[in-house]
Amino acid sequence: MSTAKLILEGKEYDFPVLIGSEGELGVDVTGLRARTKAITYDPGYANTGSCKSAVTYIDGEEGILRYRGYPIEEMAESSTFIEVAYLLIYGQLPNLRELEAFQDQLTHHSLIHEDMKKFFEGYPRGAHPMTILSSMVASLEAYYPDAANGEDINLNIIRLLAKAKTIAAFTYKKSIGQPYVYPRNDLSYPADFLHMMFAVPAEPFPISPSLENALNLLLVLHADHEQNCSTSTVRMVGSSQANLFAAISAGISALSGPLHGGANQQVIQMLDMILKDGGNYQKYVDMAKDKKSDFRLMGFGHRVYKNFDPRAKILKKVADRILPEMGIRDPLLELAKHLESAALKDAYFIERKLYPNVDFYSGILYRAMGIPTNMFTVMFALGRLPGWIAHWLEMRNDPTTRIHRPRQIYTGQVKRPFVSVDQR
Ligand code: ACO
Repeated sequence: MSTAKLILEGKEYDFPVLIGSEGELGVDVTGLRARTKAITYDPGYANTGSCKSAVTYIDGEEGILRYRGYPIEEMAESSTFIEVAYLLIYGQLPNLRELEAFQDQLTHHSLIHEDMKKFFEGYPRGAHPMTILSSMVASLEAYYPDAANGEDINLNIIRLLAKAKTIAAFTYKKSIGQPYVYPRNDLSYPADFLHMMFAVPAEPFPISPSLENALNLLLVLHADHEQNCSTSTVRMVGSSQANLFAAISAGISALSGPLHGGANQQVIQMLDMILKDGGNYQKYVDMAKDKKSDFRLMGFGHRVYKNFDPRAKILKKVADRILPEMGIRDPLLELAKHLESAALKDAYFIERKLYPNVDFYSGILYRAMGIPTNMFTVMFALGRLPGWIAHWLEMRNDPTTRIHRPRQIYTGQVKRPFVSVDQR
C-alpha cells in the first residue's frame, strides 16, 4: 500500500493512499486530527472525497460519465429510465422478470393519499414548483413513517419514485388552475407523467413516441452525477439517520439553486433576454467576462467537467434531431448555438475550461415538449431521484458511515468579557 507523507511543524506523518477502481488516488486523512490536531481546509470541498461510492464514475478531464460502469452514451441510446433507476438503486441491470415487477410496483404506488391533495390548495398560485415538490416529499413521511427493516425501506423507495411524478404533475395542474389528472397504470413512467401534466379529464393527451422518448432520454441523462451539491446534501442529511423522505426533500431544495439544477430555468430566461435585446450574444459573452458585472453565462462551466459535459453533447445532438421531428423551429436553439460557439472561441472561456453543461440544452428540449419554464428544475429532480436514493442507500448500508460533521478554521474574536447593554 502506498503512503503520502505530511510534514507539519517539523514532524513527519504517513497517511494511506486509497486507489479507486479506475485508478484515482485519494489521501486518507481519517486520522489526521487525532494525530496532529490539524484539519484540512478545502472550501467548496473541491479536493475532498466525502465517501467511497460504487454508483457513478466521472472523469471530468476526459468527459466520461458511467452509471455502475455503463457509459452514459450507451444508456442514453438504449435504456429506459426505469431500467436506469433499477440499475442505480440495486446495483445491476434488471432481467425481464425484475424489470416487469419493478414497473408494476411503480405503477401501483403512483397515487398520492387523497388528503395530500389538500396541501396543494394551501400554496399561492405563483408558488415555485420546486418549493412545493420539496415540502410534499418531506410530508410523505407523515403518511409512510420511517421503515425499520429492509423490506419496508424498499417499499418507501418505490413509493417515493412512484409518487414524485404524480406530485410534480399535480403541482403544475394547481399552478394553471386545472383539475388534477390521475395516473394511469398502462403507461410507461415518462408517458404517465406527460399524461398527468397535459391531459384534461374530458380529453386524453396524445403522447407521441418522440415526446415519450425525449422525456425518457432527459430523465436517463439526469439520473445520477456522483457527489454533486444535492447528492452530498442527501448524504449529509441522511447521515444523521433522518428518514429517506427528509433527506430527498433536502436534496430537492439544494438542487433548486441557480448554480445547480436551477440553472436550466435560468438558461432559458437568459436566452429569452438576449433575444429580446436584439440577439446580440457577443454583448453577453463580454458581460460574463467582465469581473465588475455579476452576470454569468448560465449553463456554462462545471466543477468537474473541464473538457466537455457528455450529457450536453448528447442533448445538443438530440435537440437538433428532435425539434424538426416535432415540427418546431425554436429561435432560442439557434441563439444557444451561436452563444456556445462564440464562448468556445473566447480566451476567457478557453483558459478557464468553461463548456456548456447539461443545463444548457435541456431547457430547449423541455420547451419543445411544452413543459413550462418554472417546471424545468422539477424535471431535473424527477430524473435525479434514483441517484439520490442510490446514494442514500449506499450511505445507510455502509458500516463506516459516521454523521457528517465538517470542522472549520475559526477566524472570529478571541475570548473577551461580556459587556452589558448600558456599557456598549
Ligand atoms: N460564466 C462566466 N464565468 C464563469 C462561469 C460562467 N458560467 N462559470 C465559471 N466562471 C469563471 C469564474 O468567474 C471563475 O473565474 P476566475 O478564475 O477569474 O475567478 C472561474 O470561471 C472558475 O469558476 P468557479 O465559480 O470557481 O467554478 P466552480 O467550480 O466553483 O463553479 C459552477 C462551477 C457553479 C457550475 C459555475 O461554472 C457557474 O456558476 N456556472 C453557471 C451556472 C450553471 O450553469 N450551473 C449548472 C451547473 S451543472 C449542474 O449543476 C447540473
